[in-house]
Amino acid sequence: MKYIIGNWKMNMTAGDIVEFTRGVRKYKFPKNSNVTFGLGAPYVYLLGMAKLQGHVLVGAQNVSQYEKGAYTGEISAEMLADVGLDFCIVGHSERRTLFGETNKIVNAKIKQLQEYEVMPILCIGETLEEFEAGKTKDVLSEQLSIALKDVDKSSKIMIAYEPVWAIGTGKSASVKTIKETIAFIKQKLTEILGEREHIVLYGGSVNPGNSSEILHTDGVDGALIGGASCNVDTFMKIASTLF
Ligand code: 13P
Repeated sequence: MKYIIGNWKMNMTAGDIVEFTRGVRKYKFPKNSNVTFGLGAPYVYLLGMAKLQGHVLVGAQNVSQYEKGAYTGEISAEMLADVGLDFCIVGHSERRTLFGETNKIVNAKIKQLQEYEVMPILCIGETLEEFEAGKTKDVLSEQLSIALKDVDKSSKIMIAYEPVWAIGTGKSASVKTIKETIAFIKQKLTEILGEREHIVLYGGSVNPGNSSEILHTDGVDGALIGGASCNVDTFMKIASTLF
């Protein structure tokens, strides 16, 4: 199974989403294909997107680290579960750098999501400086070991390897880097979560031009797509490279 998951970030209006879902109908993919689609939408549109479920996984892009109470502006894992969401992205580099989300906070968020059975998609990745200094494995090890400390080892989780320097830059990581890094992540996941299926996506400037080689790289279970997921044609063209 390959996963093609869009992260719309703070983009799209209700009108854009209607246009997007209409546009999807143009694309005829083989029935029972081995591709699962997902869309991570802004909170306010999630209820309206429930009708898409069954065709695509629908998820949020963030969740509170707290369970409930006086946390103005926050949305809890219980609320995400209450509206039937399939997944929630946590630890995205934009949340880490712009909103101070630490590995410890990410760990608390994952535990909340597991408690309410919403699948976390945990994003990890190194900065350009760390990449150039050869520190990628150290950074990813630390992100994984803290974020996954004492989590439920058997519940479903996906990891997205998103090098920070590849996000929104038009410069994706090379196939060699992706292959080696995802192999390392899977080995680390086996140490932390044990022998089980480990699903690891790649994210960072995936587009219709590079998706075929990325999605066919050993160990890559799918893609987490930012900019190119806001346009139905580029999003579906990325998926079509799998057929
Ligand atoms: P881009 O595809 O725009 O580089 O963003 C990737 C990303 O951040 C997905 O979460």
